[in-house]
Amino acid sequence: MIKPVPVDALTPEAAEEELARLAEAIREADEAYYRNDAPDLTDAEYDALRQRNLAIEARFPELRRADSPADRVGAGAGEGFAKAAHAAPMLSLDNAFSDEDVVEFVARIRRFLGLDEGEAVALTAEPKIDGLSLSLTFENGQLTRAATRGDGQVGEDVTANARTLSDIPAKLNGKGWPDRIEIRGEVYMSHADFAALNARESEAGRKVFANPRNAAAGSLRQLDVGITKSRPLRFFAYAWAAASAPFAATQTEAVARFADWGFQVNPLMTRSDSVDGLIKAYRDLEQSRAGLGYDIDGVVYKVDHLDWQQRLGFVSRAPRWAIAHKFPAEKATTVLEGIDIQVGRTGSLTPVARLTPVTVGGVVVSNATLHNEDEIARLGVKVGDTVEVQRAGDVIPQVLRVVADGGGAPFEMPDACPVCGSAAVRDVDDKGETDVRRRCTGGLVCPAQAVERLKHFVSRKSLDIDGLGAKQVQLFYEKGVVRAPQDIFRLTARIAEAGLPPLAEWDGFGPASAAKLIAAIDARRNVPFARFLNGLGIRHVGQTTSNQFARHFLSWKTFWAAVEDAAEQGPDSEAFGELMGIDGIGGAAVGALCVFVTEPHNREMLSALLSEVMVQDETAAASDSPVAGKTVVFTGTLEQMTRDEAKARASALGAKVSGSVSAKTDILVAGPGAGSKLTKAESLGVKTLTEAEWLALIADA
Ligand code: IVH
Repeated sequence: MIKPVPVDALTPEAAEEELARLAEAIREADEAYYRNDAPDLTDAEYDALRQRNLAIEARFPELRRADSPADRVGAGAGEGFAKAAHAAPMLSLDNAFSDEDVVEFVARIRRFLGLDEGEAVALTAEPKIDGLSLSLTFENGQLTRAATRGDGQVGEDVTANARTLSDIPAKLNGKGWPDRIEIRGEVYMSHADFAALNARESEAGRKVFANPRNAAAGSLRQLDVGITKSRPLRFFAYAWAAASAPFAATQTEAVARFADWGFQVNPLMTRSDSVDGLIKAYRDLEQSRAGLGYDIDGVVYKVDHLDWQQRLGFVSRAPRWAIAHKFPAEKATTVLEGIDIQVGRTGSLTPVARLTPVTVGGVVVSNATLHNEDEIARLGVKVGDTVEVQRAGDVIPQVLRVVADGGGAPFEMPDACPVCGSAAVRDVDDKGETDVRRRCTGGLVCPAQAVERLKHFVSRKSLDIDGLGAKQVQLFYEKGVVRAPQDIFRLTARIAEAGLPPLAEWDGFGPASAAKLIAAIDARRNVPFARFLNGLGIRHVGQTTSNQFARHFLSWKTFWAAVEDAAEQGPDSEAFGELMGIDGIGGAAVGALCVFVTEPHNREMLSALLSEVMVQDETAAASDSPVAGKTVVFTGTLEQMTRDEAKARASALGAKVSGSVSAKTDILVAGPGAGSKLTKAESLGVKTLTEAEWLALIADA
């Protein structure tokens, strides 16, 4: 092989030619390796091609090809499911755990809609099926795509698999369906089919499924469609999105249409005008639960009238017009064998109960959280005791109480971090209250915190790097190659600097998966604002808060400049006021951002990270609405809708709703009784509108 020209010495013309040559060579090598199972290059040769391609692209970013091998992993087919973006997000539901929660849910709806006392709200009550949700796109009555929920925005394309379910029509029956609609529902497996499947799996010496939900998910998400076809999966339709035309006036009617069109709908749905009626439906379903033949984990209530659903809209991840009333958790008794201490991302020490394995509601439980030392004291639990544990849905099992004393010694929480040995203390806040959590003071010096933060950084809700999960992060950390987020983007170089062999030679990697991982990392060099912010793992700045900041500021640079100003200039500054003024943002988040940005380690990390990745600007939600991107403040009494509804509608149209007037305010909507905000807006020359003028402005949006 001719010795290649060093990347530093390449002219742009030579670089362009070489990128073309590399793209071709890598494509050929991939074909040979993935499709034909006949690699024609050694691992080292293959790695060298990819690395050289990356190095040239890094030096000449403007020459990066549209078909750059860095964006591509393998030969396309057979590499897992394709991504499928949902036309409208697939949301989750808020939970109600008591009758009071249901009373409050209905009261909240009434307040939001501003209903008179005499006016009834009808709601449906239906079983909450414990399976996995699926969204089916129908165009002109034909099934064109099936997608799993994924992160709610983008799921996996499982069309071929979904077509094997007899409950899913390939073509809609009857008429009256919109030209385009996404029908949503739950894929599940019956108890009888689950038991038979597990018997077959166990007979064949394969692993059995823990519960029907896992069996349903595992059966649907099979790359070999033949396997899905052999599994007894069922589907109930209960929701829809992105319909091109209205097709019903109520939830009840919509579900009746689904049945007309050929879907299975749950026969146990009822409708009621009162909270008492809903609670009765809940009790009835709880009674019949054991005999249904499939798992349900609660009851979903939905506002029946679709025009009200429309007005109620959504709050971050869940609709305001629906709630899941969960059944009480399942319980079991077992022995507490030991208490381990886990150190989390923010340094909190969590005592975890190690239990004699016990089956709770069909799942084997061997660990449960004990939350914190106050909780251990409150429970009076000691190693050796017999305890009652409970498990509810996906949440971590909990220890509820001591059933029998085992005679052991009382537990003492360590005052040093079990991982790094730094002091572990309980903070006392300004009000003199002691934090329930004990935290390791080691910060990033503590390997446990560093590793947990890295895991969070690459996790699904943050950077979502395919193939880089908890296991890999732990390994890279232990080998010393990834100690901070930016190291991930320098993985190949960090490995070489550490004097380790190339990743392709590591146990469990090989050339294909090494190349795939590097490509997956490179694909995240362009990262959405909210994911990036969430990934930083700043306390009180999680997914929802990150989304709110992204929607308000749109640009990362503007946002971070405001954070820096707020930290430097303090609570009286305009920047601090702007951050605090964002609807739904509280002092804890803004305070934590200021603490984060003040810490020199964090600033260094961030600047190193930003030299590796580009944070994408958020695009305004509805750019064609007349109020998109505008900062709007509501004050005084509104007469046609409640303040909450007005704010929600403005946000849905892409406006930024703020609680305080400043020079950045574009519109003040002032109802009767408006006071200081109106005066301030007038003095600043901010445009003010009456409620009627505001409604006229957004009428066609
Ligand atoms: S309605 C916008 N109805 O529960 C609301 N969801 O915790 C869409 N689920 O992701 C959901 N049975 O997978 C609805 N009868 C039912 C349901 C149901 C089960 C699941 C669904 C959803 C999750 C939310």
